[in-house]
Amino acid sequence: MSETTLPSIARTRAELAPARDRLDDGDVAVVMTMGALHEGHAELIRTARTRARHVLVTIFLNPLQFGPGEDLSKYPRTFDDDLAICTREGVDLVFAPTPDVMYPEGEPGVRISAGPLGDVLEGQSRPGHFDGMLTVVAKLMHLTRGDLFYFGQKDAQQLLLVRRMSRDVDFGATVVAVPTVRERDGLAMSSRNTYLSENDRQTALVLSRALWAGAEHAEEGPSAVRRAAREVLVTEPLALVDYLVLVHPDTLEEVPEWYKGEALLAVAAKVGTTRLIDNTPVLLGPGGGALPVFSDERVG
Ligand code: PAJ
Repeated sequence: MSETTLPSIARTRAELAPARDRLDDGDVAVVMTMGALHEGHAELIRTARTRARHVLVTIFLNPLQFGPGEDLSKYPRTFDDDLAICTREGVDLVFAPTPDVMYPEGEPGVRISAGPLGDVLEGQSRPGHFDGMLTVVAKLMHLTRGDLFYFGQKDAQQLLLVRRMSRDVDFGATVVAVPTVRERDGLAMSSRNTYLSENDRQTALVLSRALWAGAEHAEEGPSAVRRAAREVLVTEPLALVDYLVLVHPDTLEEVPEWYKGEALLAVAAKVGTTRLIDNTPVLLGPGGGALPVFSDERVG
């Protein structure tokens, strides 16, 4: 019988520091989460384990990245199940602080600003979201002293901004992207999927279907991709589309018709009361199509 070792659990900074010090015989990979763990998070942990000796998972529902009308109060809290997943995946250390541990003086005055890239797409519907996200990611990078940080392609704009923060203000953090994990029918896994009714869930499939339809036309160029994706989206009037874009992966600006190379096809829609996002990297031009993540040469 194989033995399962429980991860150490640190709830305060005073507990985290010595527990982190003990992981000193190899690289420490960090997976940051807001809890309500699913197979997407598990895949980040498994991928992290292939490159690093130790995996540290943070579980913190960060109030700073939720707007006033958003779902902070109803966000699923499933700590025991989260811990079971961490145990199953062989996580060494879980850092699960409360808001007063992370923000002992209340809301922080000084924050990380995402800049203009934080104002578009998700940022347009969620003002301040990316500043709140980057602020906690910066704090967790410092507190965990990770060697590698794993982020999901599912949240493409978040991933871009974390990479930009690392470069633009010299965090020197190695950020690794993990492809989006999906249900068998294509729905991108998300802690928010638990909000969906059975009907909503069927409606939600239109997002991934639209992305695949668009990516199939990647050889033909941007307008063919956008048209094919749009044609699928309009078949599902119950999905209230916020945006469907084909943008440059660095600038998040719509790519012009002559553009060839890697681009991000991204969609956001409200299904019932739930806001869902999905995306796929695509290669536009000859030999084009969907990509799991952007190439290392591009993102550095
Ligand atoms: P959360 O939504 O819990 O996601 C934690 C990490 O899991 C993120 O890197 C996210 O992109 C990744 N992830 C979520 N669903 C995924 C899927 N289906 N496939 C692959 N990766 C997936 O993102 C956050 O939390 C927060 O903003 C956080 C970074 C923890 C800061 O508070």
